[in-house]
Amino acid sequence: MELKAVIEKRASIRMFTEEPVPSEDIKEMIRRAGLAPSINNSQPWSFIAITNHELLDTMGSIVQKKVLEYFPHENIKEKMVAQAKVLRFSSFFMDAPLLIAVEMSPYETVIEELLKGRELNPDDVNRLRSYPNIQSIGAAVQNLILSTFDLGYGACWLSGLLIARNELEELLEINSPNMLAACVAVGKPRENITQREKKPFDKIFRLID
Ligand SMILES: Cc1cc2nc3c(=O)[nH]c(=O)nc-3n(C[C@H](O)[C@H](O)[C@H](O)COP(=O)(O)O)c2cc1C
Repeated sequence: MELKAVIEKRASIRMFTEEPVPSEDIKEMIRRAGLAPSINNSQPWSFIAITNHELLDTMGSIVQKKVLEYFPHENIKEKMVAQAKVLRFSSFFMDAPLLIAVEMSPYETVIEELLKGRELNPDDVNRLRSYPNIQSIGAAVQNLILSTFDLGYGACWLSGLLIARNELEELLEINSPNMLAACVAVGKPRENITQREKKPFDKIFRLID
């Protein structure tokens, strides 16, 4: 599909058919994700494709337990509605045929080293540079998601499940200093692909000439 058409077609998909995603397609999506730009071409990513339903169920249950722990609804209607929404948006991946977990490795450039010498701690340096590692991961995830649509699938970016980061990292054998940065649920859409409303162009653009 033409790039413009893929960009204009993409919308977050959260309901999937049970049709499995063949391994050639999984590998092609991940190959394209790995072509993204990254800070100093450090490519601070690796991808774990999960198609095992038992593991997805276990991960989903862990996330749901954490959500219930952090957001008790206290029998108040609005809180119950909010809790149900958080539960759904953080654990719908359980019913996806494929979940791709994105593992992020740390990376420091010479600039970080120089700035640290000026009494900035690593967090300050990272903030000053707007988290280049995370920006790099974002580029790879967007490549991945656009590729899923190009190959005839739908997908949704997930960070809500990171409420259970420690448990998920242990389960997926992601060891420090690496981190679980994000996940992407993928499958054949079981809902219409309709683009959500976006801000008007003049609200997101200004030209300095
Ligand atoms: C960094 C990031 C994290 C996201 N995390 C979640 C999530 O945990 N659960 C979810 O259902 N959607 C998640 N989304 C999808 C957004 O909700 C979605 O992109 C947004 O509502 C706009 O809709 P659209 O993708 O259809 O344009 C995430 C998107 C991004 C970019």
